[in-house]
Amino acid sequence: MPAAFRTGLRQRVKLGMLWRAGALSRRLSEALHMRYRTALGLAELADVPRYTTPRELDALLTLASRCRPGANVLEIGSYVGVSSCHLAAGLLRRGGRLFCVDTWNNETMPEGPRDTYADFLNNTRRFAGTIRPLRMRSAELLAAHLQLPLDLVFIDGDHSYEAVRADFERVAPWLAPQGLIALHDVTTYPGVSRLVGELLAGGQWALAGQVDSLVWLRRPRWIDTPWLTPSAAAAPPDASVTDLPQELAARAPAPPRARPRHSAGERA
Ligand SMILES: C[S@@+](CC[C@H](N)C(=O)[O-])C[C@H]1O[C@@H](n2cnc3c(N)ncnc32)[C@H](O)[C@@H]1O
Repeated sequence: MPAAFRTGLRQRVKLGMLWRAGALSRRLSEALHMRYRTALGLAELADVPRYTTPRELDALLTLASRCRPGANVLEIGSYVGVSSCHLAAGLLRRGGRLFCVDTWNNETMPEGPRDTYADFLNNTRRFAGTIRPLRMRSAELLAAHLQLPLDLVFIDGDHSYEAVRADFERVAPWLAPQGLIALHDVTTYPGVSRLVGELLAGGQWALAGQVDSLVWLRRPRWIDTPWLTPSAAAAPPDASVTDLPQELAARAPAPPRARPRHSAGERA
């Protein structure tokens, strides 16, 4: 058998084995994921209507599970509770509470108005110890209704530009410094896309992650650059601001005055 043929055959066998191992590990991780969801009581929600994809729900579960112990999470727009259950399930391990704000009158929903509160309570009964329902319009929400600071906020209520901006502006001051604000339907509702675009362009918020039509934002983290630190003492002796854009140069401290050069004898 020619050597080149033998090498090609070995390569094909190796690739085949790797492909099989990959497929097996995918099946195993799917089975584990299913068992995890079942153990959390999420698998039984399979037939409950929702407006979120399985990947978005997994992301909400993960975001909540990464919050600090005893975290405060807020959801605006809970509908019949599927996203609420995923957020609450994420909080189970380390404790915490989820405030759910909704009129539960199916406002702005394509199916038209109806009372969805009984469905919400029934679907979320397993997480009743974690969930605090607040039946009101989001515009009526006050800090006094919540425990602050908030570690994670999920906004999925009225998707018009004015309403989603008002929701964002209401909750942003209540957010912990490392907190996250997630918004749903960013790729499907122009009002939400416009708000997210404006927030990112404004520079006060940064993209922390995205799955399908769900994005989550955080406050930008500045790299501690000595020439932007507001202390002249921290600036290196040759700090120069001449290359910085104008608005950064305006914020930079004045470079320290050059020290007079002394000979060793003079210094004494
Ligand atoms: C898209 S659904 C939420 C879906 C839910 N997050 C899920 O993934 O299953 C929007 C919800 O927001 C509620 N809603 C709409 N406008 C509201 C407002 N101004 N204040 C409070 N809730 C509102 C509706 O009643 C509805 O239940």
